Formats: sequence, structure tokens, C-alpha cells
Amino acid sequence: METVDRKYKNGNFISSLRYHTVEEWENYRDIPDWKRETLVTCAPYTATHQEAMLQLIANVEHVIKSNIPGDFVETGVFMGGSCMIIAEVLKHFGVNDRAIWMYDTYEGVPQPNDIETDPEGKLLNKWWKENAQLEGQASSWCNASLSTVKEHMKKVNYSGDVHFVKGLVEDTIPHQGPDTIALLRIDVDLEYPTRHVLDHFYPRLSVGGHIIFDDYGMFPSVQHTVDHYFYHNKSKIYLDRVDSTVVHGIKV
Ligand SMILES: C[S@@+](CC[C@H](N)C(=O)[O-])C[C@H]1O[C@@H](n2cnc3c(N)ncnc32)[C@H](O)[C@@H]1O
Repeated sequence: METVDRKYKNGNFISSLRYHTVEEWENYRDIPDWKRETLVTCAPYTATHQEAMLQLIANVEHVIKSNIPGDFVETGVFMGGSCMIIAEVLKHFGVNDRAIWMYDTYEGVPQPNDIETDPEGKLLNKWWKENAQLEGQASSWCNASLSTVKEHMKKVNYSGDVHFVKGLVEDTIPHQGPDTIALLRIDVDLEYPTRHVLDHFYPRLSVGGHIIFDDYGMFPSVQHTVDHYFYHNKSKIYLDRVDSTVVHGIKV
């Protein structure tokens, strides 16, 4: 396995719990070689669990095999590993006419509001001020620079369009983005940007398209935001569970 410079993990209390070793793939005996290679290539660059990575591969595969229209979007990319997975699957199926949109501050998770908590009920804002705050809006919580993430994406060498959209999603969305989305991965950790992305991009998700809420089981305020959105919006969705934090849905 390639060694990755983990300096952007400093102060990251969440991701430090979630990284995994390549040996874990040995328990998944039925995985075909191309998927195994995708996992091994991309795992060092994502904070997600192996179940979430496998689910993402399956989601992209479904989009392509079922001709679900639209581009691939991730809000909150950190080191870019989930988008690397998307690119690898598109390459496997010979697809290069789907754009990948990668939204992030590329300066880490910004300051949480005054009421958001971690799973144990501790205030994120307090933790952020004491442990993650850097100059200005930058923070050490999942901070990977734009140039670092571009280098990671180069490793998978996807020949289709890749859009790196830098800034708060509250500022960049909906002005920059695709009209039609086939897969939307929301992984911004905080309540307000999650709601903002849902408000603007869920209507653009194709019927049959996939949506992934990476933080649903991790952050109570994100769970509340997602539940609230679908309760009031009355948009039909099928939701299922991927792992202890990740929830996946299909627009119906
Ligand atoms: C948990 S990490 C994402 C992990 C990534 N999806 C993966 O597969 O490893 C959360 C990311 O969300 C970004 N983020 C948080 N709030 C944001 C906001 N309001 N606008 C843009 N990016 C944001 C952070 O900079 C960070 O990179």
C-alpha cells in the first residue's frame, strides 16, 4: 500500500478513528479484482469505511448500467478518495462523458454553530476553537489543500471533466454545478451546509439517482437536518443503511 502523508489529519478527531488497513479487504472474498484494485488505490485517500466504499462502487455501477442521467457530485471531499473511487468505476466502464464535481473549502471544516454536537453530545464549536481553528476560516479538521487533492485525482487519471469548486458550499452552490445529478454524496459534517446542499441539489437529482449522507449517524444535527428535509419536502426517497454513520438513498 502506498504511504500517504497524513499531516492533514492532525487535530482530526473523527478521521483518526476511521482509517483502516489494507488487510481488511481479505475478509471480502467475493470482490472481483478490479474492485479490489479500486479499493486498494483509493482507500488511503478517504475517511470512509470499507462498506461505504463498496456501496459507492455499486452505486456508480448502477448509474452507468441503468443509464441514470447526470453528473457525479461530492460536497466535502477532504483528500478526494471518494471521487477517486467514482473516477475508477467510470474508467472501468469506459465512461468519460460524466463530469465529477468536487466541492470543498480545501481549508478544512469551518467553524460549527453554537448547538451542533459530536455523538457524545460535546459541543463541536468548543472543540473546534480549542483544537482545530487556524487562521481565518481555515481549520485543521479534514484540511487537505486544493493542490493536494488535485495531485490525488491525477493518480486515477480520469479523462472526463473534473470540477474542483473551492469555497463554502453556501457560496458556490447553486451558482456552480451541473443541471442534472446522477449521484450526490454529502459529507460536509455540519448542519447548515448539509441543508444548503439538499435544498439546491436534491431537486437536480435524477429519479433513480443515488444520494449518500455520510454523516447521518455521526452528527445528530445532520441527522435532524436530513429527516426534517424529507419530512417537509415530501419528496419520495428510499433510504437504507450502509454502516454506523453512512445512510444511502435512491430518489423514487
Ligand atoms: C469528513 S470530510 C469529507 C471526507 C470525504 N468525503 C472522504 O470521502 O474522505 C468533510 C469535508 O467537508 C468540507 N466542508 C465542511 N464544511 C464545508 C462547507 N461549508 N463548504 C465546503 N466544504 C466544507 C471540509 O473542508 C472537509 O474536507
